Amino acid sequence: MTDSVKLNAAGKDLDLKVLSGSVGPDVIDIRKLYAQTGMFTYDPGFTSTASCDSAITYIDGDEGVLLHRGYPIGQLAEKSNFMEVCHLLLNGELPTKDELDKFSYTISRHTMLHEQLATFYRGFRRDAHPMAIMCGVVGALSAFYQDSADITDPQQRMIASHRLIAKMPTIAAMAYKYSIGQPFMSPKNNLSYTGNFLQMTFGVPAEEYVVNPVVEKAMDRIFILHADHEQNASTSTVRLAGSSGANPFACIAAGIACLWGPAHGGANEAALNMLREIGTVDRIPEYIARAKDKNDPFRLMGFGHRVYKNYDPRATVMQQTVREVLGELGVTDPVFDVAIALEEMALSDPYFIEKKLFPNVDFYSGVILSAIGFPTTMFTALFALARTVGWVAQWNEMISDPEQKIGRPRQLYTGPTQRDFVPLADRT
Ligand code: ACO
Repeated sequence: MTDSVKLNAAGKDLDLKVLSGSVGPDVIDIRKLYAQTGMFTYDPGFTSTASCDSAITYIDGDEGVLLHRGYPIGQLAEKSNFMEVCHLLLNGELPTKDELDKFSYTISRHTMLHEQLATFYRGFRRDAHPMAIMCGVVGALSAFYQDSADITDPQQRMIASHRLIAKMPTIAAMAYKYSIGQPFMSPKNNLSYTGNFLQMTFGVPAEEYVVNPVVEKAMDRIFILHADHEQNASTSTVRLAGSSGANPFACIAAGIACLWGPAHGGANEAALNMLREIGTVDRIPEYIARAKDKNDPFRLMGFGHRVYKNYDPRATVMQQTVREVLGELGVTDPVFDVAIALEEMALSDPYFIEKKLFPNVDFYSGVILSAIGFPTTMFTALFALARTVGWVAQWNEMISDPEQKIGRPRQLYTGPTQRDFVPLADRT
């Protein structure tokens, strides 16, 4: 390990400090670089840039490791539940029995939405994408919960965090109900966080909804697998929005907007649509050829990851869960056969091997969600629901960091240099 690295820039010799975390690559501290050399660094997509220090989630992309507060994702997915993981991400430790009871009770007491918010939904078209509704409704929470929008007060920050975690299932379920023209279902606090979400989504007032424990467990696992993923695009968006002092509801709405894109949270919807489009195993080679063709913009959705270059540990858990859910529900979905065969063919193809492209968490999650009964348009909304705890944990960490500053990247300007204004009549 080195304490500093030498850089010769703009004719000056600089000693740049090297900082070490508890595990993972060291980072070169370049905070004084511009002041000392008049130069910036250039790193579009932030592939070599640590934007903050964080004690929440650790990823080793080469080894396929994902730890939350030190605990491996596989252990959490197998032995824990989403409420425990929320407590862990938000407060730093797994809860004791008493702490878990108190935390679950607190979350369940915030599941209802202000009645006025229900009228918001009626302003949307019935065919609106649920993510469009999520962006709007979550942003609107700041108009209703102003008593938890003072970001300088740690207690208000925690209340806002609890509210966001608690209300997200209600908001997502209402978006679904609205799209199919069924009445909104009130939350039932005697159910688990995940059971309640299933009840609000698939229940109807005319009948008692019975939660299927296999489906409940599978959904809970999907929530755990999506709960946090260090400084990914949407989390960085939440941090950047929050760095200006914006209220938490507005910041999470910004995160939802970023998550919507097909390269990020929209990938499971895109992956399932792709598997459906492929349709049968014999058509797979055609799609693999297209993914490899430089002149074709088509990519295998659910394949590849910015950080994981060996395998995505979440995909491994997801693959097991698919079998459990399809078995329990008695669903025989040809899409699953296409998924298995596509994975096999891609993983033995030199293009995918060389570029280290493996199935990511989204490759299988769409198959499970579809078997449970969710339409593809809801997939990203479910991701947003689960990622909310990660977003609020990272946002809280940032706000409590005494070194926190407004995020303000610089640029390499390539436009015209200064020139004089030409009046309209003189322009050719
Ligand atoms: N299919 C075919 N080729 C691919 C794929 C893919 N899914 N992913 C990457 N490649 C190729 C690229 O064409 C590129 O090839 P080149 O070097 O010849 O130009 C090379 O692999 C590297 O790709 P980049 O886009 O530079 O890698 P990056 O790390 O920036 O992108 C990303 C990662 C966006 C996830 C990409 O792999 C992708 O678009 N995958 C499909 C979308 C997807 O599944 N997203 C989900 C991400 S996980 C999540 O959000 C939870």
